Amino acid sequence: MVETAPRVVVITGASRGIGRLLAEKLGAEGAHVVINYKKNADLADESLAAVRAAGGDGVTVQADIETAEGVDALFAGVDEHYDRIDAFVANAAAAAFKPIKDLKLHHLDRSYAMNARSFVLGAQRAAERMKDGGRILYISSYGSLRAFPTYAALGAAKAMAEQYMRYMAAEFGPRGITVNAVNGGLIDTDSLDYFYNKVPGMAPMDSVLSKLPLQRPAKADDMADAAQFLLSEKAGYITGQVLTVDGGLTIIAPPFWSDTTGELRAAVFGE
Ligand SMILES: NC(=O)c1ccc[n+]([C@@H]2O[C@H](COP(=O)([O-])OP(=O)(O)OC[C@H]3O[C@@H](n4cnc5c(N)ncnc54)[C@H](OP(=O)(O)O)[C@@H]3O)[C@@H](O)[C@H]2O)c1
Repeated sequence: MVETAPRVVVITGASRGIGRLLAEKLGAEGAHVVINYKKNADLADESLAAVRAAGGDGVTVQADIETAEGVDALFAGVDEHYDRIDAFVANAAAAAFKPIKDLKLHHLDRSYAMNARSFVLGAQRAAERMKDGGRILYISSYGSLRAFPTYAALGAAKAMAEQYMRYMAAEFGPRGITVNAVNGGLIDTDSLDYFYNKVPGMAPMDSVLSKLPLQRPAKADDMADAAQFLLSEKAGYITGQVLTVDGGLTIIAPPFWSDTTGELRAAVFGE
């Protein structure tokens, strides 16, 4: 039997949340995962232990990808261990949650650098290291499409990254590299907790969940499963696309079914 080399997958921000779960799922396929993180070395080590327990292997690489030097440091870390990359997942995100009137120059610049520029710089470096085709994936959110409180800086950067994703799909396609995005709604992670419980004045999460067709947040697993699919052999002819994982959030509009009454409401909720 011919042994095939394990896939090498680089995931930014894999010390927690969706990135960690995706790393673990890829580990179960036997992949070697490069687990990038910014400050939580212990959590990154836990992610690597989870990947190994699942049957894979990998390394952790500390690098602040908000800076161009940090992106280079990430790939220098990759090069110390691997002579190629098969997939790159731009998952890490961060931004200030503020109304537009309060966004300062540094909020705008940092959100762009962290959430859009790092994707482009990372994808360039990843594509150079892909020897036999590959996969590039951007993890986005519904703030790229819809306007909701305090999300302008992050949502606009995610929209930019999604459009870069389409340009990359066109330019990297001839080399057998697919480029896609997963766009999430409310996903049960640390950052969802922060958004609804720590941003002063934010609307209660229940007021949003009651409006969703599926009436609940996604599990981080739901996002990681969608990402795993787009990284798989089965998604080989899908490129330049956004796969939405939002429980129906972006297909609804006011008036909401949750605000109806009487028989009309009973038709949907059975009450
Ligand atoms: N949670 C949601 O509701 C939701 C919804 C839609 C889309 N998404 C998207 O899903 C992705 C993952 O979100 P999550 O909620 O799973 O993340 P999370 O739990 O908040 O984790 C963030 C990860 O990014 C890393 N990170 C932060 N800043 C970094 C930097 N400058 N350089 C390198 N790594 C950095 C963190 O590392 P440390 O541990 O070292 O800090 C951590 O591993 C994001 O793109 C997010 O926008 C999330």
